Amino acid sequence: MTDKQFPAASSIVGAGLGLRSSHYQHIFEMKPDVPWFELLSDNYMGEGGLPIVRAEAIRELYPITLHGVGMSLGSADPLNVDYMARLKRLVDRLEPTYVSDHIAWVSIDGKYTHDLLPLPYTLEAQKNIINKISQAQDILGRTLLVENPSSYLMFNSSEMSEQEFVGGVLAQTGCQLLLDVNNLYVSAQNHDFSANEYLSALPKDRVKEIHLAGYEDRGDYLFDSHGHTVHDPVWLLYQKALSLFGAVPTLIEWDTDVPDFEVLLGESKKAQRILDEVF
Ligand SMILES: [Fe+2]
Repeated sequence: MTDKQFPAASSIVGAGLGLRSSHYQHIFEMKPDVPWFELLSDNYMGEGGLPIVRAEAIRELYPITLHGVGMSLGSADPLNVDYMARLKRLVDRLEPTYVSDHIAWVSIDGKYTHDLLPLPYTLEAQKNIINKISQAQDILGRTLLVENPSSYLMFNSSEMSEQEFVGGVLAQTGCQLLLDVNNLYVSAQNHDFSANEYLSALPKDRVKEIHLAGYEDRGDYLFDSHGHTVHDPVWLLYQKALSLFGAVPTLIEWDTDVPDFEVLLGESKKAQRILDEVF
């Protein structure tokens, strides 16, 4: 536990940014007008060192959320209790507004990949991820947010649509949804389903955060590259989502070829202008 005193974890509002290491210096020097930052929890889970010092310094200035890729909630492996213990210590230390991970899997037989891999939408896979999310929530002592995936393949074994799978997970775990509108657009285009129908099927009171990012058009499919400004169809889908779910706090994600801070700030200001139109 840290002896630092943080402002009480409060609700987040408006359009925030994903914290990227190339922007630390600018943020500490300029203290830019950003309503909140999202930190990648996996980057701050070591014991001590510069990363956690920086995370604490950001937390003293801004509300934060913690977003991770390591819970492997969809894996058939048991929940990694060592990972969860380290995450719990980080959560206790930084007091984020939300803690989130993905409807995906990244490990099997204890071996980890760097990719968020898709699930077959079967009752068996749904029951497995429901159990894992419930265990994770019990360990952390808080409600999780889970993020809808982007995908490039469908499984022949799937027994339900993605929105049915996600809806069942939300209903049976009490967890909330981190709605990645770019992921939804990419998957809907790749698999030829209606993103609008997907949005309309979601429970209206369970969408607590939205992600926006840029994709890459690779000709016969869209790739969720997180290395581009948000595309026009995703802005349109975002407006549709806000019309259904209200002014949900929104994050600009940018993970590859990270540009100058001002470019990210411009994207968050654009999201903020759209949020401001929601009553
Ligand atoms: Fe995302």
